[in-house]
Amino acid sequence: MKLKQEEIVNHLKTSGFVFSSSEIYNGLANAWDYGPLGVLLKNNIKQLWNEYFVVQDPNVYNLDSSIILNPTVWKASGHLDQFSDPLIDCKYCKARFRADKLIEEKDPSLNISDHLTNQEYQELLKKYDVSCPNCHHQEWTDIRNFNLMFKTFQGVTEDNLNTLYLRPETAQGIFINFKNVQRTMRAKLPFGIGQIGKSFRNEITPGNFIFRTREFEQMELEYFCEPKQADLIMDMMLNKVKDFLFNYCQIKKENLNFHEQTKDELAHYSNRTVDVQYQFPHGMSELWGIANRTDHDLNKHMAYSKQDLSYLDQTTNQKIIPYVIEPSVGVERLLYAICCEVYEVQKLSNDERIVMHFPILLAPIKLAVLPLVNKLDEYSKKIFNQLVKQIKGKITYDTSGSIGKRYRRQDAIGTPFCLTIDFDTLSTQQVTIRERDSMLQVKIDLNDVSWYINSRLEK
Ligand code: GAP
Repeated sequence: MKLKQEEIVNHLKTSGFVFSSSEIYNGLANAWDYGPLGVLLKNNIKQLWNEYFVVQDPNVYNLDSSIILNPTVWKASGHLDQFSDPLIDCKYCKARFRADKLIEEKDPSLNISDHLTNQEYQELLKKYDVSCPNCHHQEWTDIRNFNLMFKTFQGVTEDNLNTLYLRPETAQGIFINFKNVQRTMRAKLPFGIGQIGKSFRNEITPGNFIFRTREFEQMELEYFCEPKQADLIMDMMLNKVKDFLFNYCQIKKENLNFHEQTKDELAHYSNRTVDVQYQFPHGMSELWGIANRTDHDLNKHMAYSKQDLSYLDQTTNQKIIPYVIEPSVGVERLLYAICCEVYEVQKLSNDERIVMHFPILLAPIKLAVLPLVNKLDEYSKKIFNQLVKQIKGKITYDTSGSIGKRYRRQDAIGTPFCLTIDFDTLSTQQVTIRERDSMLQVKIDLNDVSWYINSRLEK
């Protein structure tokens, strides 16, 4: 059965993953806070990405660039002039919409290109007979382009000279540091720079829970290479993204689609882009983008900064401007996809349970220590305190409610192992380990618990 958005949202909100932001002040539209389990899950996703795309590739380096950059960066990158959405207002009820989204809603098979002129949008609105979703009138204003970058001001004067922008992507911080990283690491092509960090976009139509928000985190890798290597590296990156999604995030192939962008859909900086789309509860939508950005960004930054960002090939003694292959994904969007994927309401013989089948590496909590009865609390706490130091990952302790209820609580947040201490443990030094997915229980020696769990956490 298809998972409904309200069901997964309700589960994540009530079990400590995600909260509505500013809730006690009636919230803020489309802003979300991450609760204790959400933070653990986010951190595990970021760590896994960094391990897979950066640490395990000797030619990839980390970077942590500023959120606020010299505003010329955004002039050079094209964001100041081109990073905008086409907006129209309904003259009757004054509601405001994105023209491209209104047209796509009329014909979901259409993939509206970024490069349409306002005139072309107007013609499509007419062709599809688009009326206001709010009041159903057909009286539209002209289309205006609305820049998606959040503005702020430096110092005490709020004028144009002091205007700065919150970055809408982390990628530009990488391009402007290309030479610093290449020089200090003595890096040879091909090599990559990976960065995880917050990005901000003043989205007009955010929504679908955490799918599209105004504040989000990106995990971006810019892989610099010789132009003739670009096609091969693009295919290699696509395979790596597939491997990461299938084998590490355990996303099923049938829930993914690989959309090759048409010429009309391509962004101004790309000559090839593949959108990895996931079957979210609201529909098949972009999860991860993989783009060949050519030498566009480095050329633009060379032109605007007047600095030499070329690479000297020491074998041919020739200077080249590297091409860039970029896989880019939002942390929260990937978190949402993983949660939809692992959520199950499972029918049992005379019961049902909610279970989140997280891959063990991603599970927020790895082990729950559960004394069978309260009388064993003091003894069990000592065991818990020892395991806290030994297990690689967060573990928890729970004494409230029947053992069956406690198992269900851990299933619902995706804890892969529960450890039960009973009176026999006092004499045998053996505990029961229950596995989340199979619900099978095995007795093992207390001394073997940390090895048993930690060995399952190794990649
Ligand atoms: N540097 C390239 C770039 O930023 P993008 O397709 O605009 O390309 C890349 O964004 C990824 O960032 C998307 O595939 C998505 O996972 C995530 N993303 C973009 N906008 C987002 C938003 N408003 N909310 C959440 N995630 C977003």
